[in-house]
Amino acid sequence: MHNSGLNETATAPTRTETDRQGPVGGIRVGALAYADLPLVISIERRSFRSPWSVGMFALEMSKQDTIGLTAVEDDRVIGYLILSRFDRAWHLMNVAVAPEARRRGIASLLIEEAIGMIEPRDPVTLEVRPTNQSAVRLYEGLGFRAFGLRPGYYPDNGEDALIMWRGDPEAAGVPRESFGEIPAGT
Ligand SMILES: CC(C)(COP(=O)(O)OP(=O)(O)OC[C@H]1O[C@@H](n2cnc3c(N)ncnc32)[C@H](O)[C@@H]1OP(=O)(O)O)[C@@H](O)C(=O)NCCC(=O)NCCS
Repeated sequence: MHNSGLNETATAPTRTETDRQGPVGGIRVGALAYADLPLVISIERRSFRSPWSVGMFALEMSKQDTIGLTAVEDDRVIGYLILSRFDRAWHLMNVAVAPEARRRGIASLLIEEAIGMIEPRDPVTLEVRPTNQSAVRLYEGLGFRAFGLRPGYYPDNGEDALIMWRGDPEAAGVPRESFGEIPAGT
């Protein structure tokens, strides 16, 4: 991933805001709105080497079949997610949590909420830097499994991307070439 709201007019499933109690009590998950972008961009810049611009968020939010969510605490956005559908599969395009709010289950909450909005049998995929072990562990904990590598995917340092899937892409008719290149010896 990286380098990609809920579009109010999207055909993607919509949801109402929920208040979450329990381990992430006090967090509201809601639809990403254009008015959230200044705070989203501030988190984005503190989270990624090659942060998305406002225009990149706006482009994703304008698309059909895009789900954008925010996690809000005390009226402040502290995390966000973008999940978009391409053909048969949903792609987790972007997820980040403000550095001071990490390790409280917020990314897990956002991903679970978004996955709860799509058809249960729809597979979900993402790309992640293999060196981003926080994210790899997060995804593994949510049932994503490594399928292969996309060589030289990240333009800033030429790092390969690890491709992960949740669900069975083949069963959903996703072409095998989308799975990624399986490294020798695996
Ligand atoms: C990756 C990221 C989104 C995780 O957000 P988060 O809200 O802190 O994640 P959660 O609290 O839901 O963590 C769930 C699990 O992921 C793993 N995890 C998350 N951060 C971790 C870390 N720093 N070290 C090790 N494991 C970590 C753990 O297994 C954790 O469960 P635990 O806390 O019970 O051990 C956040 O660190 C972030 O915004 N990073 C920068 C942006 C980024 O890399 N996004 C992903 C791009 S692919």
